[in-house]
Amino acid sequence: MQTRRLKADEQGILEAADRIRSGDLVAFPTETVYGLGASVYDAAAVQAIFAAKGRPGDNPLIAHVLGIRDAQALGEWTPLAQTLAEAFWPGPLTLIVKRRPQVSSVVSAGLPTIALRAPSHPVARALIAAAGVPIAAPSANRSGRPSPTTADHVMEDLGGIIPLVLDGGASEVGLESTVVDATSEIPLVLRPGAVTPEMLATVAGECRVAEAVMRQLREGEYAPSPGMRHKHYAPKARMTLVEGSGDEVAAALTALTANAPNTWALALADIIPQGAGPQWRSLGRDAGEAAHNLFYLLREADHQGVKRIYVQALRRDGMGLAVMNRLARAAGFDIKTARELLQGQHDKKGNTE
Ligand code: TXA
Ligand code: MG
Repeated sequence: MQTRRLKADEQGILEAADRIRSGDLVAFPTETVYGLGASVYDAAAVQAIFAAKGRPGDNPLIAHVLGIRDAQALGEWTPLAQTLAEAFWPGPLTLIVKRRPQVSSVVSAGLPTIALRAPSHPVARALIAAAGVPIAAPSANRSGRPSPTTADHVMEDLGGIIPLVLDGGASEVGLESTVVDATSEIPLVLRPGAVTPEMLATVAGECRVAEAVMRQLREGEYAPSPGMRHKHYAPKARMTLVEGSGDEVAAALTALTANAPNTWALALADIIPQGAGPQWRSLGRDAGEAAHNLFYLLREADHQGVKRIYVQALRRDGMGLAVMNRLARAAGFDIKTARELLQGQHDKKGNTE
């Protein structure tokens, strides 16, 4: 199949909306990452999303809507959902509520709940409006690859597999939306994103974060969100997160990348040493910039044949929690302190000298 890439202007959006209505898949930009969409009411088209991505059949999709009214047609609204949607929609927040029976269970991978999000990106909104139906869409990557933040990324993963990509430039946030269980009275974060636990607590009074956000599920353990069970966002390189003060991490990354071919040190700009070599890559100035740059950098590492990546661990608050959640998964939860890594380096040298 030839994949057409259309500029996301009025004509492109109308053509994409036609495709959605006739049961085809369309990749489109959102403020978080690109999505791969189909009409939420077309079970066969929704099924085709799983095939195109190679996505496990037990991992549900997000239904993208224009706002609260559309969302209420798909899910059983709760007072908490109302509070959160009023505060953060349209935007990078996905709400989980009970699914209404008229929505195909294929969208929810058989779960009794449904994930709903009103994106803020003007192209995503225009597409939903022109299609006249909510759009079921996961991220537009092949399963197990970093989410796409540009149309190039989508082409890389799904070129030849889907008919159409709407090109709306780079996604602003760069990480997927915050997923929140809104079925009870207290928000429970299942996947951290740009709408942070701190922000959620401000409007809801309190906020919980699922414990599995920062650790690997045990074999057979219940996953509050199926996405937690799956290997995610993995670059080809082996990755280790390095914890410690800025100075300690800078020292460890310097030692670990010196004379190490195909090895990268990824860190916030302020700890990168003056005159650092090309093996040093900047995550940006803060967690927000790191979110924007992360998936791009992981794909870039693959392109350059990088085999080993050491990354500065960020503080797990605000946007840092979302970045750390993705990094920890990409690293298979290999998290070490700068001190133990430096000690390991030292021991190795001691053995060979
Ligand atoms: O920002 C985003 O959320 C992007 C854009 C395209 O909107 N979409 C996205 O979709 O990241 P996806 O499919 O890659 O991630 C959806 C996540 C998965 O981790 C899935 O397990 C979880 O949401 N999810 C969906 N429905 C759920 C449900 N009913 N209960 C619990 N988790 C659910
Ligand atoms: Mg995804």
